[in-house]
Amino acid sequence: MYEITPEQPQDHAAIEKLLDKSFGEDRFKKTAYALRQNSNSIPELCLVAREAGNLLASIQYWHLKIAGEVPALLLGPIAVQPERQGEGIGVGLIRDTLQLAKSLGHKIVILVGDPAYYGRFGFSSAFEKGLELPGPVEAHRFLVCELEDGALDNVKGLVTGHKALSDLALN
Ligand SMILES: CC(C)(COP(=O)(O)OP(=O)(O)OC[C@H]1O[C@@H](n2cnc3c(N)ncnc32)[C@H](O)[C@@H]1OP(=O)(O)O)[C@@H](O)C(=O)NCCC(=O)NCCS
Repeated sequence: MYEITPEQPQDHAAIEKLLDKSFGEDRFKKTAYALRQNSNSIPELCLVAREAGNLLASIQYWHLKIAGEVPALLLGPIAVQPERQGEGIGVGLIRDTLQLAKSLGHKIVILVGDPAYYGRFGFSSAFEKGLELPGPVEAHRFLVCELEDGALDNVKGLVTGHKALSDLALN
């Protein structure tokens, strides 16, 4: 049985190895990575699943701004060790963290991912809602989810990374 806990600095190497395995080493060229370079992660929402000391999965969330003013979260990366995929670990991590994000007062979550997977959590096309990214992305993979009804009303524009001062103080 695995446990889910906040990510710790000592998890960093194992997480990077899992992400290399899951997304390849050219993952750093992707638009989602460029967003993260201008952002900081949210410690309460960066979790790992661990079993007998081994890392099974990692999920991270980062600060964004829409049109320079409306706060949002970037979900990702999320990865589950290949030999443990299909056991519900990914769905569990996403459901729990979206719930936690909502309870912390976050209202909008954005990601670049497979709509067939993320639709079940309430994600749908971000382009159709008038959002844009500062780099190339396959249009159908740019997704957004409201954690509060109406959070995206009258919200349109460019999504950028954001460095939140309160988190910088903690890091
Ligand atoms: C995507 C990933 C995080 C899912 O985690 P997981 O623990 O394997 O997923 P779960 O077991 O919780 O969920 C399995 C369900 O998701 C579906 N699923 C998994 N990957 C999918 C995908 N890319 N597209 C559509 N459905 C997908 C499965 O068919 C299954 O559906 P079911 O519940 O109807 O049977 C994991 O497969 C992974 O790490 N993949 C490599 C990295 C990656 O692609 N990350 C996501 C980037 S957007």
